[in-house]
Amino acid sequence: MVEQSIWMQKVAADPGHSSWYVERFRSMARAGDDLAGEARLVDALVPRRARILDAGCGPGRIGGWLADAGHDVVGVDVDPFLIEAAEHDHPGPRWLVGDLSELDLPARGITDPFDAIVCAGNVMTFLAPTTRGEVLKRLRAHLAPGGRAAIGFGAGRGYEFPAFLEDAAAAGFEPDLLLSTWDLRPFADDSDFLVALLRGR
Ligand SMILES: C[S@@+](CC[C@H](N)C(=O)[O-])C[C@H]1O[C@@H](n2cnc3c(N)ncnc32)[C@H](O)[C@@H]1O
Repeated sequence: MVEQSIWMQKVAADPGHSSWYVERFRSMARAGDDLAGEARLVDALVPRRARILDAGCGPGRIGGWLADAGHDVVGVDVDPFLIEAAEHDHPGPRWLVGDLSELDLPARGITDPFDAIVCAGNVMTFLAPTTRGEVLKRLRAHLAPGGRAAIGFGAGRGYEFPAFLEDAAAAGFEPDLLLSTWDLRPFADDSDFLVALLRGR
């Protein structure tokens, strides 16, 4: 049994947390807010009809956009309520409930590796800290040769950027490019957000 993710600890403490989160994104979508910035960056990383894993997909705004762009998308999230919302709001991708620290898609019949993996929306900081290294190893194991992972999260959330980059290196990733935003601004020592584009070593 793996340690419960910080996200599911929040859900246990407040059973309304997941529905609040779903409604937050639904109301932003109704308001016409731009919810696809991360997806547009990932789309630029891959050929057409690529295989993309949305790791910690939540209610599916990123994977849904990428599927609409013609990619073959699998989304995995530990919160069943969010996966139900993804199925409802963004039909098309394969949405699966699962903990990223136990990710084994071949065991679930999804045998081909991924051209890109996106892990956006602070997912890394909602993992149980003891599982971070294992999650990165499993993401690495699901990446196709030449594929890239795009992982983004904010500073001040309990996972320092240097520690993340060390864990990523230990998992077999190498940074291709470090950015501070999903719209391609460069990363600097004082950046308060990191978008790491990682390739396999
Ligand atoms: C802030 S939400 C971001 C959702 C989505 N990536 C987005 O940007 O819209 C963080 C997500 O991380 C997921 N998560 C946290 N720990 C996880 C784990 N161990 N395995 C799978 N998903 C996890 C949560 O369930 C939640 O959906």
